[in-house]
Amino acid sequence: MLRIVVFVSGGGTNLQAIIDKIDSGSIKNAEIAGVISNNPNAYALERAKEHGLYAECVSPKSFGTREEFNQALLAAADKLSPDLLVLAGFLVILPREMIEKYTNRIINIHPSLIPSFCGKGFYGLKVHEAVLARGNKITGATVHFVDAGTDTGPIILQKAVEVQDGDTPERLQKRVMEQAEWEILPKAIDLIANGRIEIEGNRVTYKITQKAEKVGAMDWYFEGRR
Ligand code: GAR
Repeated sequence: MLRIVVFVSGGGTNLQAIIDKIDSGSIKNAEIAGVISNNPNAYALERAKEHGLYAECVSPKSFGTREEFNQALLAAADKLSPDLLVLAGFLVILPREMIEKYTNRIINIHPSLIPSFCGKGFYGLKVHEAVLARGNKITGATVHFVDAGTDTGPIILQKAVEVQDGDTPERLQKRVMEQAEWEILPKAIDLIANGRIEIEGNRVTYKITQKAEKVGAMDWYFEGRR
């Protein structure tokens, strides 16, 4: 059973999608060992408690220096003995020590099709504002492994979403969440929990199963071996 720790900062709808898909059996062989927030007011913490999950807030405001906060964040993760750290709307730069310790064991959901609209300064609504300002007709979401850069690690899954006339950043954010994020983040966890992906350099490849299989909502079929 893959033990996952979910890091959150806000509403926690992606956390909710993971909880629901574990409950429904769409994610197999994974359990949530705990939820960690940097923000004491994150509604995600309420969601965790409602589901009887261990939840902890590690706020930078409680520490004198960034280094002390970084150490506390790492300790909070370590004590849950996780196999995978899932950044589900976690708006904090991860300590370098954590990225090194958990190489290829941290994933992040980003609300655009990387490499567009990602990197420093692109998070939350800002991403959707930039997509609308540029006049893009297609956007989407990406799940990727976390490396030392910002949104630069190997891409696991992506899904495209149409921009519609009259979209506001809020409307577009909601559609990207509903049509892409809540689908591909749980799917990525399921693929990892069931040994279905490999990382080669900066590329993720899918391990093959006996039959061609649909991986995402788009027409991504691949063949496999197990
Ligand atoms: C999500 O849209 C997620 O993709 C984004 O924050 C939101 C969190 O929503 N993450 C980033 O922008 C990271 N760069 P949630 O708390 O309802 O899951």
